[in-house]
Amino acid sequence: MADSVDERLAAEQDVDGPGQGLPAGIILSVIFSPPDPLDFRGVQRAYDTVAEDYAAYLPDTRWEAPLDLAMVDAFAMAVTAGNDVQVLDAGCGTGRMSQYLTERGCAVVGVDLSPGMVAMARRNHPDLVFTVGSLTELPYPDGQFAGVMLWYSIIHTPPAGQARIFAEAARVLHPGGHLLVGFQSGKGTRDDSKAYRQFGHEIELELERHLYTADDVGLQIESAGLREVCRLVRRAQGKERDDQAILLASAQ
Ligand SMILES: C[S@@+](CC[C@H](N)C(=O)[O-])C[C@H]1O[C@@H](n2cnc3c(N)ncnc32)[C@H](O)[C@@H]1O
Repeated sequence: MADSVDERLAAEQDVDGPGQGLPAGIILSVIFSPPDPLDFRGVQRAYDTVAEDYAAYLPDTRWEAPLDLAMVDAFAMAVTAGNDVQVLDAGCGTGRMSQYLTERGCAVVGVDLSPGMVAMARRNHPDLVFTVGSLTELPYPDGQFAGVMLWYSIIHTPPAGQARIFAEAARVLHPGGHLLVGFQSGKGTRDDSKAYRQFGHEIELELERHLYTADDVGLQIESAGLREVCRLVRRAQGKERDDQAILLASAQ
């Protein structure tokens, strides 16, 4: 395996094919190109692969801690206190949280990158509307929602892609609307593919998870023009590997 840039360049010169005969500057810029923070093809493939098992293993909120649900309840109450109760479950997965919010009086639609997860959401919650789409390009007009929930859906986007997600969430919220964000709290990344391989998938499965602190997310909220209302940071419980953080914010 060629580790250093020199070794990689030497290896490049040994093969016929793309790159052969190109000026060194072009070859170097290709080698040093950082990964595109908005390229979610690997995330989509991974969730398509595990969708059926995810729906079976996590059918509802049984794994959520009471403290976490208290924050979701506070969000639902903030939304339903107004006249408009439309909520976007952004990164809805199999729709289990959409169902939970529906039972608390919200009119929920869900959007998710993974057609496989959306298929499970439609199968398990046939009364709700789910759409395939990205958090970074939400397929909704400005100011459509009284609430947006990002429940463990920002976690596969690297730091460079976060501003785009929060700008989109802020765009689709109307003034006075609320945002709820839940995520594993910390620093660095984790490889989630092992956890999903326990379901028995032998095919290639790449799933990197990014950890953020509540302060990181608080800054994104502020930069998107939203106002933080409150935050919960709690220690890991049971089989959780990380602390958990949940932030509630409002649109001015
Ligand atoms: C850990 S699951 C959480 C799903 C759901 N919110 C729940 O609590 O069960 C993460 C979900 O976020 C979705 N996701 C990740 N990045 C996304 C993006 N850029 N746009 C839309 N969905 C995304 C994945 O497809 C996956 O369904």
